[in-house]
Amino acid sequence: MDKPRVLIPRGEIEKKVAELADELRRDYQDKHPILIGILKGSFVFMSDLIRKLNIPVEIDFVRLSSYGSGKETSGKIKLAQGVKTPIRGRHVLVIEDIVDTGLTVRFLFDSLGRRKPASLKLCTLLDKPSRRVVDVPIDYLGFTVPDAFIVGYGLDFDEKFRYLPDVCVLEEQK
Ligand code: IMP
Repeated sequence: MDKPRVLIPRGEIEKKVAELADELRRDYQDKHPILIGILKGSFVFMSDLIRKLNIPVEIDFVRLSSYGSGKETSGKIKLAQGVKTPIRGRHVLVIEDIVDTGLTVRFLFDSLGRRKPASLKLCTLLDKPSRRVVDVPIDYLGFTVPDAFIVGYGLDFDEKFRYLPDVCVLEEQK
């Protein structure tokens, strides 16, 4: 059984989320943005973020799948649940848990971009740049992480470990 080891403790996450919220508040104060969370992993980050933001926002969610199960991406992105909110002419901020190969965000940005939002930006808690396949611009970033499998604070491995309050690395038990 793999064992999670703390990489970013909850206190550091809380501080970073508050900093990101300050930055976003300055940028989106009068824009009434739509925040679109990528399910399932971003739900913990997004719920902490919107409560610190303290400006009027609309929220929606999208569900995409690339990881069937296990730690390797299949590379094929499927849209399992699309965005229902009309986004034409609106300021859209996508909320992601982790950018790995970049394929998920690239797929979503291509599809949302065609719907002509006023602006389309990305806020991700984590970035794993070592495995990037396609270039994606990250507008707001929490932490850069090493090439390891991350769980906790919403992120899972086969639906396990999402509930952990810290960002952890999954280590193989010998
Ligand atoms: P990408 O398309 O390769 O950038 O992968 C993005 C998605 O894969 C994220 O939304 C996560 O759901 C998942 N993912 C990528 N790396 C990890 C990880 O280290 N732990 C848990 N999920 C991950």
